[in-house]
Amino acid sequence: MTAMSASADAVFAHAVAAFEAGTAVLDAIALQFQAQIAQGLAGGGSLKMLRTFTRQPSGRERGRVVVVDWGGTKARAGVVDLSGGGEVRIVAEMTLTFSEAQKRGAPEPVFDLIAGAVGQVVGAQGVGAAPLAFIYSYPARLERVDRAVALASTKGWRLDGLVGRDVAELLTAALHRAGLARVALAAVANDTVAALILQSYQARGRDAGASPADIGLILGTGTNLAADLGPAGIRNLESGNFDGVAGVETPYDVALDRELDEPPPGAQRFEKMISGHYLGEILRRALADLGQRTAWFHWSASPALATAFAFDSAYLSRIAADRTAGLDDVDALLRSLGISSTREERHGVRALGAAIARRAARLVAAALLGTLRFIDPRLTDRRTIAVDGSLWGGYPGFEGLVREALADLIGRERAARVETAFVKDSTSAGAAVIAAVAAAQRSEGCSSA
Ligand code: BGC
Repeated sequence: MTAMSASADAVFAHAVAAFEAGTAVLDAIALQFQAQIAQGLAGGGSLKMLRTFTRQPSGRERGRVVVVDWGGTKARAGVVDLSGGGEVRIVAEMTLTFSEAQKRGAPEPVFDLIAGAVGQVVGAQGVGAAPLAFIYSYPARLERVDRAVALASTKGWRLDGLVGRDVAELLTAALHRAGLARVALAAVANDTVAALILQSYQARGRDAGASPADIGLILGTGTNLAADLGPAGIRNLESGNFDGVAGVETPYDVALDRELDEPPPGAQRFEKMISGHYLGEILRRALADLGQRTAWFHWSASPALATAFAFDSAYLSRIAADRTAGLDDVDALLRSLGISSTREERHGVRALGAAIARRAARLVAAALLGTLRFIDPRLTDRRTIAVDGSLWGGYPGFEGLVREALADLIGRERAARVETAFVKDSTSAGAAVIAAVAAAQRSEGCSSA
């Protein structure tokens, strides 16, 4: 195949340009995000602003905690030691994966699998009685630190009859069935809260006067933010559900939203444009469409192009990382998917993938700015954002793209006051700190928002 005709070239350029999120549009999104935080706290809008019933750690928390981290295609059970001074050590960890069928079945078998994994790690470590922290990375309305009523799930999960049930109680019942009654659930939290709390624990453990993290951001299979809103407490925004995206959506986003049954149309609009679960699918849709309308990408015979969600988001990172002139690794990747490509086509895939990832990064910056302005309208103080997740950690230059967008929005000087701290694998470690904070709160007899 040779280079495209002029009109096909224009079709391609138009598709890439459709993913551009300009600064004026981003600024409007940031303002709307900020307004929706206020609205959410008052009970309206698309941001759920869920209570967490936890508070910032001192950095001196200690103890051995059993942790469960369930938030995507995988779950983990582990044992974590906190030794104060911001020190944390994962003593043991075991990972479970779930099938598509399990994601649509009854909740009990899933909780039994998780309890089984807990049994194995505590058995191997000789742990008897211990507190357990449960990181449940789906929307849940907490009523106490150890009571979390499930809302509709995200990331492709829809367990039968889960909505409205207390996931802490379900896990406790499964632990009892597994003969683990001495492992006592002490706290349930979202992964964004775990990232925020872990960053604060580490910073304050090193220096008692250090400022705690203001925001916890997860950018992996799903996306979400937690923020310390002072008097309103630490809140789980469930920002993946933010709906102020009309200014930047492409026909591919509109179709993806409409055609997916889980999460249903209209739900998780922000997440559907940003997170790892969706970026590969957006690229697949764009390639399939351009394959029909141009001389490029006639690849519909490949299952990776023909099947929904078969183009893995991790491919975007791999494609972006290929620095060779001929895009040799992109070639190898496409061949492994049964696709033979021209050099121009490979550069085309790369340009589209980069545009999709760049839009995601810029939207993340807008959400962060909306949150930072809610906390500190004039952005006068230094702020820390704790970040974790496979997209942030895995896509080459993602952090740089977010920072560049922040600088576009508020200028380099103010953007420099915002620190992004990558707290890799924060969930289990953060969970342990949350359990220790919950124990301290319990012994003081207080409850935070
Ligand atoms: C969930 C959030 C979670 C985020 C990151 C979203 O799909 O709704 O609760 O924090 O993914 O894991």
